[in-house]
Amino acid sequence: MRLREILLTLLVLMFIISMSEETCTSRLHITAVEGEPFYLKYCSSSAKHENKTTTMKWYKNQLHGPVELSSSSSPRIILLGYVLEFWPVELNDSGSYSFRMGNDTYDWKLNVIRRSKHSCFTEKQVISKVVEVKKSLQIACEHSYYQKLANRTLLYKNCGKIENNQNPFLRKNAEFKDQGYYTCMFLLHHNGKLFNVTKTFNITIVGDKSNIIPALLGPKLTPVKVELGKDVQLNCSALLNEKDVIYWNIWKENGKDPNVHEEEVMKIRTSEGKWLASKTLRIENVNKKNLNFLYNCTAASKGGIDTKSFILLKKEDMVDIPGHIFTRGMIVAVLISVVVVCLVTVGFIYRVDLVLFYRHFMGRDETLADGKTYDAFVSYLKECQPENGEEHTFAVETLPRVLEKHFGYKLCIFERDVMPGGAVVDEIHSLIEKSRRLIIVLSKSYMSNEVRYELESGLHEALVERKIKIILIEFTPVGDFTFLPQSLKLLKSHRVLKWKADKSLSYNSRFWKNLLYLMPAKAVKPCKDEAEVLPVLSQS
Ligand SMILES: *[C@@H]1O[C@H](CO)[C@@H](O)[C@H](O)[C@H]1NC(C)=O
Ligand SMILES: *[C@@H]1O[C@H](CO)[C@@H](O)[C@H](O)[C@H]1NC(C)=O
Ligand SMILES: *[C@@H]1O[C@H](CO)[C@@H](O)[C@H](O)[C@H]1NC(C)=O
Ligand SMILES: *[C@@H]1O[C@H](CO)[C@@H](O)[C@H](O)[C@H]1NC(C)=O
Ligand SMILES: *[C@@H]1O[C@H](CO)[C@@H](O)[C@H](O)[C@H]1NC(C)=O
Ligand SMILES: *[C@@H]1O[C@H](CO)[C@@H](O)[C@H](O)[C@H]1NC(C)=O
Repeated sequence: MRLREILLTLLVLMFIISMSEETCTSRLHITAVEGEPFYLKYCSSSAKHENKTTTMKWYKNQLHGPVELSSSSSPRIILLGYVLEFWPVELNDSGSYSFRMGNDTYDWKLNVIRRSKHSCFTEKQVISKVVEVKKSLQIACEHSYYQKLANRTLLYKNCGKIENNQNPFLRKNAEFKDQGYYTCMFLLHHNGKLFNVTKTFNITIVGDKSNIIPALLGPKLTPVKVELGKDVQLNCSALLNEKDVIYWNIWKENGKDPNVHEEEVMKIRTSEGKWLASKTLRIENVNKKNLNFLYNCTAASKGGIDTKSFILLKKEDMVDIPGHIFTRGMIVAVLISVVVVCLVTVGFIYRVDLVLFYRHFMGRDETLADGKTYDAFVSYLKECQPENGEEHTFAVETLPRVLEKHFGYKLCIFERDVMPGGAVVDEIHSLIEKSRRLIIVLSKSYMSNEVRYELESGLHEALVERKIKIILIEFTPVGDFTFLPQSLKLLKSHRVLKWKADKSLSYNSRFWKNLLYLMPAKAVKPCKDEAEVLPVLSQS
């Protein structure tokens, strides 16, 4: 016979054997679990051709001889020709059974064992299977006899239900965590009672059986920078087979250094079933003797060895900035930034004083070369009640007293300085041209005055053409500035000074400082004989 034919024959034979094994009970010694449905079936080689009328008999062999079984001997027993069914089998069903048909006899020894109280399966009834990791793991809940009777089939792993109950069938690539007990449970209804038949597999996952050559991880030579007096740990890791070893060679001619200690090996199983082992060498209080010595780590198996070396080198001292210097540097940098921020803030708050101080200190004078006559032209409400209005007093007396007498400026006040007669508007125009600043004293009545309109044209020209700087003094609170000419509204708010009769009297008050700040720098020394508080308004 050719090889192919032999194989085919073998396959067919195996098929027949497995078929008959599953459906009929060929084993002599049988174990069953109490409480589960159970059957015995005679293996008839030519069952189909048998004479249907041939009598088939079942016996249970008692001490005093065989006793024929019939449906009346027990309500749990059913005789179905070649098959004897138990619904269910109980402990006292243990014993020897015989089937007789004509001259044929067949005997079985049945051992009914106790059901496990704490588990969904009975340990003596498990089918062991070994599966290699990464290979296919299959668990099919099949039962040649009861499957077709089962209403439902459930699959459990270690007695926990696997949520796949419609078709309890597991097929996957095996991982180590798949190891465990898989129980198929077939639920059957019989005579209105619910029974279950279990079939349990003990699945063991084993690693790939092929051996690898051990391999140490990392470069062949690892230099490690150390500081004398510090501790250091050298970590040696390797990929190994289960039985391989990993160790350090730390012995010198005169024995090993007392400060060198080998730690226990640590092993983790990889998903391929190999081992990732690591062994640490701990060197305490590194000294000169530990330097420049090759600490070798070796992994060894039957197939070969692998070695790698570590060498301790002294860390150069000045490579890094020492910690305390770095910390100090940080603190200094932070302090400097804080100081700078404070200076800028203070400078902003006291900028007026600083500018005035600077002007005073440097003797700056911007009025010398511009060919203008006046430092400021003062515009205010004049006509209505000329002599007793507060604005009038302020503009004609207080302003000149402070700015001219005390600080040495030259003001142009229309009413005081201009001869009567002549075209007012032209006059104003030319006076503004001759002035370095335009001081406008604003009050509620300013807007209602017709002079304003005359002024406005000149003002506008001055603003647009000459770019004269304007200083607004809010004499009484005005609130809204909508009545002002368009160009005036564009003034920055710090060019609007608020006069407060009670607070602004002293020459050192913020009002006068701000006004001086807006006035041109001038080097003229004022005469110092004035009182510190202005007499004019303090009387009123
Ligand atoms: C079947 O058995 C009956 C009696 O048990 C016998 O009369 C008959 O001849 C048998 N037939 C065959 C085909 O063996
Ligand atoms: C299941 O298999 C494991 C591994 O082969 C074995 O140690 C254990 O004893 C088995 N359990 C039973 C109940 O046979
Ligand atoms: C279970 O299946 C049997 C037939 O196999 C049927 O007679 C019975 O009604 C079913 N019971 C339930 C609860 O489905
Ligand atoms: C299976 O049957 C046994 C005995 O009849 C019973 O104790 C157990 O609770 C049943 N298990 C399930 C899941 O029905
Ligand atoms: C040593 O190295 C291996 C691999 O890099 C790592 O898994 C292990 O945790 C390390 N051991 C120690 C003690 O650092
Ligand atoms: C370590 O290995 C190197 C080369 O691999 C070898 O020259 C040296 O002697 C070894 N040292 C020890 C202590 O085994």
